[in-house]
Amino acid sequence: MIEDLWYKNTVIYSLDLETFMDSNGDGVGDFEGLTRRLDYLQSLGISTIWLSPFQPTPNHDNGYDISDYYGVDPRHGSSGDFVEFMQQARKRGIEVVMDLVVNHSSDQHPWFQHSRKDKNSQYRDWYVWSKKRPAGWKTGMVFPGVQKSTWTYDKDAREYYFHRFYPFQPDLNMHHPAVRTEIRRIMGYWLELGVAGFRVDAVPFIIETPPTRGNKNTKLNFEYLLEMREFLQWRRGDSILLGEANVLPDETLNYFGKDGEHIHMMFNFFVNQHLFYALATAEVAPLAAALRATKKLPPGAQWAQFLRNHDELDLGRLDEKQRDKVFARFGPELEMQLYHRGIRRRLAPMLGNQRQLELAYSVMFSLPGTPVIRYGDEIGMGDDLSLKEREAVRTPMQWTAEPQSGFSTCAKTVHPLITKGPYRYDQVNVEAQRRDPASLLSWTAHMIRLRKECPEIGWGDWKILPTGSPSVLAIRYDWRGNSLIVAHNFDEKAHEIRLKPEVEGGDKLLNLLVEDESRADTGGTHRIALEAYGYRWYRVGNLNHVLRQRKE
Ligand code: NOJ
Repeated sequence: MIEDLWYKNTVIYSLDLETFMDSNGDGVGDFEGLTRRLDYLQSLGISTIWLSPFQPTPNHDNGYDISDYYGVDPRHGSSGDFVEFMQQARKRGIEVVMDLVVNHSSDQHPWFQHSRKDKNSQYRDWYVWSKKRPAGWKTGMVFPGVQKSTWTYDKDAREYYFHRFYPFQPDLNMHHPAVRTEIRRIMGYWLELGVAGFRVDAVPFIIETPPTRGNKNTKLNFEYLLEMREFLQWRRGDSILLGEANVLPDETLNYFGKDGEHIHMMFNFFVNQHLFYALATAEVAPLAAALRATKKLPPGAQWAQFLRNHDELDLGRLDEKQRDKVFARFGPELEMQLYHRGIRRRLAPMLGNQRQLELAYSVMFSLPGTPVIRYGDEIGMGDDLSLKEREAVRTPMQWTAEPQSGFSTCAKTVHPLITKGPYRYDQVNVEAQRRDPASLLSWTAHMIRLRKECPEIGWGDWKILPTGSPSVLAIRYDWRGNSLIVAHNFDEKAHEIRLKPEVEGGDKLLNLLVEDESRADTGGTHRIALEAYGYRWYRVGNLNHVLRQRKE
């Protein structure tokens, strides 16, 4: 079972082909470039790659506007290059998960073109049309401030079409059986080419019924998730669905399914936002509450824990006061904020120092679930606020100090490189950090190895332990007779904590990061001095004993 449920103890690396590595010098990253960098990823220790959309696209939303679901955008190479990449990833034991963007297609997709131009076309009902402009046409925008409406008039069709996102992303009509059949084909196609599953884009919107005049039904069609899941598992038993759904804790069981029969994994947006609150204020109680609120999971289900992704840092689930504090600390300037709810910055410039970066990553690696890293965060890359919207955090990977950072030989790259300020590529790059044992890159590789050696985190039960300090979060994991305790001080000041492991053998804690151990006093309490932003990973009891047990 441990091997079968591989996603419970993997480390996911999220990257965009476009900005990762350009092999042919046209300024755009490609599959051959990524293939050449697989050894780097393997030595970093990651075991799953999540590829953002790479299919043919007009590219108005970073590839999340697909015009052919069965191909590779020529800028990234050919289908042959994709298969070659898959083979090389498999040889290194790296799983590949890809985006499944089926809430909407591009308006340039032939399906939409047929749909809008010909009322009698078989594709007409593949999209959502309305003769009259629905009452709520100016509500429900996902990108407020930039997106103007959710219904747009189409001159050719002479009707309005629904788009939850930008107007060039018309929603597919999920109630149409032919659309569902086509989605199964898309999934089947890529599974056949070896992917281990899908990061499902915009799950709540896939399963909504668009709010037209006649239809006031706001119930979500969760049974569709079961349909997807069943098909996926028939085709490849160990493949997974990783859902993007920024929902409240009491809704999550519907997404996972009561008995774990829907999607396997979901990004834990709720914990993510409270984690940023803790980083901004050094107050851990709301994070502890968010963890407890998302604790109950059906069998087989798993959280994906992350810090930053390719979008804005969405703070919409915090209350107003909390959100204001996070904005004040991490996004005080208007140009750093986006869509009235988020921050369009990378992690390193937000936190501003390596000690807090290490703390943030150490927390993330130790949260219940599977960690997801964003490319470039392992070296502490910065952002470019002169780029529009979320493009600020999508600049090319910084490999070396050479021109164009070794990402490309082309003078003009798909997004500009960061050439100014403390995060410019001749300062922050892989080559320099590889040679420095104290670099963030070396530290990250070390932490990934440690995380993989602690399957308790991916598999185990857990409990938050009192520490006596409002700034220190301690969690104990238990799995198969082994226990692990992690403690994180979110404060810029040192704290001494009092910790009672409350578990057999808990009078001795073995530090997994440096040679050191803690002994409890006669009352079973450990007194541990945590420096500013300090963190500890302890195994309870004796390491040899643990290793022996695991073998048995
Ligand atoms: C979520 C993706 O993460 C985001 O980048 C995209 O704009 C929307 N879904 C629409 O596909």
